[in-house]
Amino acid sequence: MTDEIEHIRALIAEAGSVVVLTGAGVSAESGVPTFRGAEGLWRNFRAEELATPEAFGKDPKLVWEWYAWRRGLIAAVEPNPAHYALAEMEKKTGRFTLITQNVDGLHTLAGSSNVIEMHGSIWQVRCTGCAIENVEREAFETLPPVCACGALLRPGVVWFGESLDPGVVSASFGAAAEADVMLVVGTSSVVQPAASLGAEARSAGAYVVEVNIERALGGSVANATLTGPAGELLPRLL
Ligand code: OAD
Repeated sequence: MTDEIEHIRALIAEAGSVVVLTGAGVSAESGVPTFRGAEGLWRNFRAEELATPEAFGKDPKLVWEWYAWRRGLIAAVEPNPAHYALAEMEKKTGRFTLITQNVDGLHTLAGSSNVIEMHGSIWQVRCTGCAIENVEREAFETLPPVCACGALLRPGVVWFGESLDPGVVSASFGAAAEADVMLVVGTSSVVQPAASLGAEARSAGAYVVEVNIERALGGSVANATLTGPAGELLPRLL
C-alpha cells in the first residue's frame, strides 16, 4: 500500500482541485457511532421512528430525546487525525471542497473552512412555525424546545423523506464535476444523492480514491481503494 499512498499523495499535491466526501466513518475514531454496521445506530434504533417528519409529527419529545442524546455525545468528543488531516489538506490545495454527510460539526472544529454540510447540522435548530434558524449548542432544559413564536423547534438536519437544499446539492455536484482528485471517506455510499458524487466526479475525469475500513464504492467508481481507518490513512496522504 505504501507505493499506492505515495502515488495518491503526489496526485493530491499536483491537483488544482480536490473534493472530499465524508460520512460517519470519518468521525468513528472520535467516538461518534456510525449508522450502519455492527455497532451502527440503525441496529438499535428505527430510523422511521426517529428521523422522519412523520416521527416528529407523532412524537416530537421522543425525537428530541434522541437528538439531545446525540448532541450530548458529540459535544463530549473531539476531532480525530482524519478531520485534522483534511483541514491541513485544504490549506495546501488551490481549490478544496469538503462535502460531508455528517451533522456533527467536527470538520469545522478541526479547522476546515470550505465545508458543505449536505444533511444539515445537529447544532442548528429551526422553528416549525416562523422558520427562524439558530445555532444552539446548549442543552435544552425542556424537550421538545419551543420557539418564542410558540411553535416547536426542530433539529436543523435532513430527515428521511425530506429534500436536500437544492443549492447544497448543486454546489456539491458542481464541485465533484470539477475535481481532479476526489476522496470518498468513511461512507457506506448508500444514501442518495451523496452516494452518486463519486460517480459524478469519476465520469467528469477525476481520480477517485475510497478510504474506508471496508470496500463500499463500486469498482467502476473508485480508481483506488485504501482500506483502513481514516485517522491513520488520511494523515499519510499529506
Ligand atoms: P454509514 O454508517 O452508513 O457508513 C459508515 C461507513 O464508514 C461504513 O462504510 C464503514 O465501513 C466506514 N467506517 C467505519 N469506521 C471507519 C473508520 N475508522 N475509517 C474509515 N471508514 C470507516 O454512514 P454514512 O455513509 O455517513 O443520513 O451514512 C449516510 C447517511 O445515512 C447519514 O448521513 C445519515 C444516515 O442515515 C441522515 O440522517 C439523513
